[in-house]
Amino acid sequence: MSRKIWVFDTTLRDGEQVPGAKLNLSEKLEVAQQLKKLQVDIIEAGFPASSEGDFNAVKEIAQKVGNTDDITITALARAVKADIDSVYHSVKHAEKPLIHMVLGTSDIHVEKKFGKSKNQILDIGVEAVKYAKTLLPDVQYSTEDASRSDFEYLWSTIEAVVKAGATMINVPDTVGFAEPEEFGELIFKLNDRLKNLNDQVLLSVHCHNDLGMATANTLAAVKNGADKVECTINGIGERAGNAALEEVVMALNTRASVYGAHTNINSKEIMNTSRLVSSLMGLEVQVNKAITGDNAFAHSSGIHQDGLLKSRDAYEIINPTEVGLDDMELVLTARSGRHAVKDTLRKLGFGQLTEEQFEAIFAEFLILADKKKEVYNYDLYVIVKNYFAGQNEHNQSVQDYADNFYELVDLQVVSNTMFPSASIKVKKGNDVLKSSAVGTGPIDALYSAILEIVDMDITLLEYKISSVSRGKEALGKVKVVVEFNGVKYNANATDTDVIKASALAYINAVNNIVVENLLPVS
Ligand code: KIV
Ligand code: ZN
Repeated sequence: MSRKIWVFDTTLRDGEQVPGAKLNLSEKLEVAQQLKKLQVDIIEAGFPASSEGDFNAVKEIAQKVGNTDDITITALARAVKADIDSVYHSVKHAEKPLIHMVLGTSDIHVEKKFGKSKNQILDIGVEAVKYAKTLLPDVQYSTEDASRSDFEYLWSTIEAVVKAGATMINVPDTVGFAEPEEFGELIFKLNDRLKNLNDQVLLSVHCHNDLGMATANTLAAVKNGADKVECTINGIGERAGNAALEEVVMALNTRASVYGAHTNINSKEIMNTSRLVSSLMGLEVQVNKAITGDNAFAHSSGIHQDGLLKSRDAYEIINPTEVGLDDMELVLTARSGRHAVKDTLRKLGFGQLTEEQFEAIFAEFLILADKKKEVYNYDLYVIVKNYFAGQNEHNQSVQDYADNFYELVDLQVVSNTMFPSASIKVKKGNDVLKSSAVGTGPIDALYSAILEIVDMDITLLEYKISSVSRGKEALGKVKVVVEFNGVKYNANATDTDVIKASALAYINAVNNIVVENLLPVS
């Protein structure tokens, strides 16, 4: 039978420790509300003793997000009375509050960090748990640096704090030193003794990613009896980060027969949560990051696209819709083969092309793909239109369709603190359209000017700019995500001029909307 694994999210505590990622109160609340939609079991909302701001944020989250009994709100304390009081006074407003305290068990922590004996540290831990239990029934004890601790001392600590009333024991691999097989064995031995001592106490793990093994260690722990996993969104956290929630959850879902375990996570909210955390904290997700990276579900090589079109399971182990993405993304690039291009043309209504026509169009596609890097559906319309025009074949419907797309002709953007403004000239069919606008910044002005021309109710959801090469000729890549009529559209553009790349990306997104709302050529 499948075991339930509790998911404890520490994005707002361990994740927020990343330099520069600090959030203000309303941002923390927004992330916590999204974590609730994701259906995590426990939110660690902060470290309230660290500042008044953090205390207030934890309190607000306890009141506004912890107002139901299907989510627990906790916060971190060191094993000292003042910290425990801070946690208590901030989380007590939740329906299900939990006090989380941490104290090291490795020789390095006991002797070097605290300069005390093992017995002294153990007594401090026990007293802290006893005190916390006078405030709340649920108390988690974290044995910091557990993976580098002497096993028998680690167990004596766990035994003593459980007898003092701890209801959850968390075993951290604080410095990401553990190795999956070894960590699995540690959890197996601890779980065996713990369940004999008190089978109501949950055994939890908290793994760091210093050797890139946080997810593997967490999963090894689940296989060996851990009941609960501590994770962060996008794997953010101290140094190399923590186990990524999306990786652990999707591994448990995808390899259910291996782990025999499940979580309560609503995986369709994974991408929304990842994007929110990334944009509010200003921490970009690496493009090839498992599950939440931009390329995690994008297939660009011809061989792969060909295989996918024949049978999706050839190169796809997770349907992208399961994590809240649109369906399979086939990016047409210079490496896309004939099969992928033919399939896209067929979907656009050009299924009747002769071999000779297709080969000519495919040759044009390759030339454009070399220049543009990514070719969109509307580009294919234009290629087909130009092909028929070159052949002097009258194909009015192709002509009409292709005339619906926008093409950048020129732009001017002025950046200043008073009136950032932009003027833009675009072509649509034979019409040349111009517009100017001011905005809160140069990109806002640019996008307002484009919107005035296209006259569509488009909302910009995401704007991301990154460098894709080095030096003076560095290319800037802009990615935008927009929403139109409740549907999300992505588009990219690359140019040495980042303002031009921004305009092109937005126009690509507009053209994607146009193409989706046109019927295929019949
Ligand atoms: O890494 C760690 O040991 C921690 C504890 C507070 C659980 O973050
Ligand atoms: Zn940690």
